[in-house]
Amino acid sequence: MNAPEKLNQYDREARAVGNIVHLEHFNVCIPDQRLATLFYVVALGGTRDPYLFMGLENMWVNYGRTQVHLPSRAVPPRTEVLRGTVGFVVPSLAELKKRLEFAGAEMKRVVPEAKTRFSWQEKDGVIEATCPWGNRVRCHAPSPQFGNTELGLVYVEFDVPPGTADGIARFYKEVMRAPAKAEGGRATVGIGRNQFLYFTETTQPLPEYDNHHIQVYIADFGAPYQWLKERDLITMETDADEWRFQWIVDPRDARKLFQIEHEVRSMKHRLFNRPLVNRNHGITNMTYVAGHDAFRGTY
Ligand SMILES: [Fe+2]
Repeated sequence: MNAPEKLNQYDREARAVGNIVHLEHFNVCIPDQRLATLFYVVALGGTRDPYLFMGLENMWVNYGRTQVHLPSRAVPPRTEVLRGTVGFVVPSLAELKKRLEFAGAEMKRVVPEAKTRFSWQEKDGVIEATCPWGNRVRCHAPSPQFGNTELGLVYVEFDVPPGTADGIARFYKEVMRAPAKAEGGRATVGIGRNQFLYFTETTQPLPEYDNHHIQVYIADFGAPYQWLKERDLITMETDADEWRFQWIVDPRDARKLFQIEHEVRSMKHRLFNRPLVNRNHGITNMTYVAGHDAFRGTY
């Protein structure tokens, strides 16, 4: 039997998971499923959900245990742009570059009339890309910073007004009960095993909020709801396992700091821990090997 001092060598706090257990998806309305397929499936290497939303009104794209939701059912078509940058881990940046080249050429060929904002560049060991409508994506190679994730949405980094980071960290720590801190004008919120929300102060003017959203699962589904409800901040009562809010407020003085819809679900939600299909995008019809259809990395 180990002596107690032997057991104390472990940093138990460092292995704790806060109340927000999973950042599953972000959702942006887009006007053209063809361009969305080329960017989010062909270029980024996601896998279209084969079970839900198989028409042209929406597309769910899988990246490991996470998704991007891309509805286009609005009439007239709507375009939403997340006010920040989403971070992915992909298995290979070299392969990603080839797919971005291919998808960029296909966009011009398939939708020659489209004036897209698509672009990408390699910068400081990551690849930064912009979707056809201006959503910013940063792709990282797997690294210890993101645990053992080899494919997935690992963070969303929001641009926020000056003087808000401290209050935002307080909100996530005290209301959402997630590990959160503010340093140098940036709030960092720990989610699940290896995911983060970042809120980085900027002096650049921010666009008006356009209703895009993020979705999280939380363990204590009751206490944050109660706090928000008492302050009239719940914006949607979807069902027994989901509610939403839009304003991040400072728990110290109720000052409204930043607006972003959070689709908040309980761990009893029917979709929690749903297995997501991920393909091996390294194979083609010419290089096919039986049994290697699925992505085999970890996430
Ligand atoms: Fe959603």
